[in-house]
Amino acid sequence: MTASTSDIEKAAGVLRAGGLVALPTETVYGLGANAEDAAAVSRIFQVKGRPPSHPLIVHIGGAEHLDDWVQDVPTTARLLAEHFWPGPLTLVLPRGRRVPLKATGGLETVAVRVPDHPVALALLAAFGGGVTAPSANRFGQVSPTTANDVRAELGDAVDFVLDGGQCEVGVESTIVDVTGDAPSILRPGGVTREDLEAVLGFPLAVPSTSHVRVPGQHPSHYAPRARVVLVEPEKVIAEAELAQELGHQVGVFLPPSFAGAPVKAHAVVAVPASMAAYARGLYGFLRELDQQGCDLIIASLPVEEALGLAIANRLRRAAGPRPTA
Ligand code: TXA
Ligand code: MG
Repeated sequence: MTASTSDIEKAAGVLRAGGLVALPTETVYGLGANAEDAAAVSRIFQVKGRPPSHPLIVHIGGAEHLDDWVQDVPTTARLLAEHFWPGPLTLVLPRGRRVPLKATGGLETVAVRVPDHPVALALLAAFGGGVTAPSANRFGQVSPTTANDVRAELGDAVDFVLDGGQCEVGVESTIVDVTGDAPSILRPGGVTREDLEAVLGFPLAVPSTSHVRVPGQHPSHYAPRARVVLVEPEKVIAEAELAQELGHQVGVFLPPSFAGAPVKAHAVVAVPASMAAYARGLYGFLRELDQQGCDLIIASLPVEEALGLAIANRLRRAAGPRPTA
């Protein structure tokens, strides 16, 4: 049920009073607070169980407000904002004075975006200020893509939930750091690297998504309760059946090339062939396998181009650090 005008007014009032509002965006649901209210921002960290050094994204109602929140806006940032906002692109820029350090985890930079969702834009217009909003899940867990996911995840810890239906994009925004000489992608997401490069006219640096880190130092993120194990697509069925025989309750992400193949497992998700549909469904699939009682999920990575880059990044992060580099 999409939020009504009176829901939006009520949510804006909750923000003004220092409360927390869960809001739909085109990517995932966010847990929002008045960006300028350090106490409300602190509550976000508490509710999520998020370390205070993890900076938040400030959501604004339009590119015309950028200078209110950012110190000096480089030309590249204006170009990207003009092309991709409203949309799933977050720009990291020098922090403006209105943004409390609490919201940036102490950084002198701030992440800003204009979400492409009518309910989010209506809320931002009614509220008039900036809204800091991380994904509305407990730290490290799967991001919510429906209002029901938010309620299941946060319950009474959030003061008001605005329902905007299922999120269209399904994975978070692409984060581009535009503070240095060469812009770089900090997190792949809903705007593809290919689309960014087409606008910029030059290649972007993308972080390595392989976990060449000491195990234990980098906990998994975007993670369901079930352990996620990534294998080659042609090994998905065999690995799933072996683990099921060994006594696991196995959930399978069956690659499109094996669609319809019988699998002896606890639960099977048919991975959509379209990357847009896969991204839209990804977090819902992970939640569903948890709900069905799976303790192990066997999946493979899609080809890492276009939206496949963000999907592969989330699956790798969900699988967590691996013992070997
Ligand atoms: O699509 C999205 O971006 C969603 C919706 C709700 O807008 N939000 C979201 O927020 O994914 P969150 O808090 O779950 O992820 C924000 C990411 C974190 O990885 C954080 O480290 C990064 O943004 N970030 C925020 N401020 C930053 C900064 N100043 N420099 C570098 N990274 C920053
Ligand atoms: Mg998140």
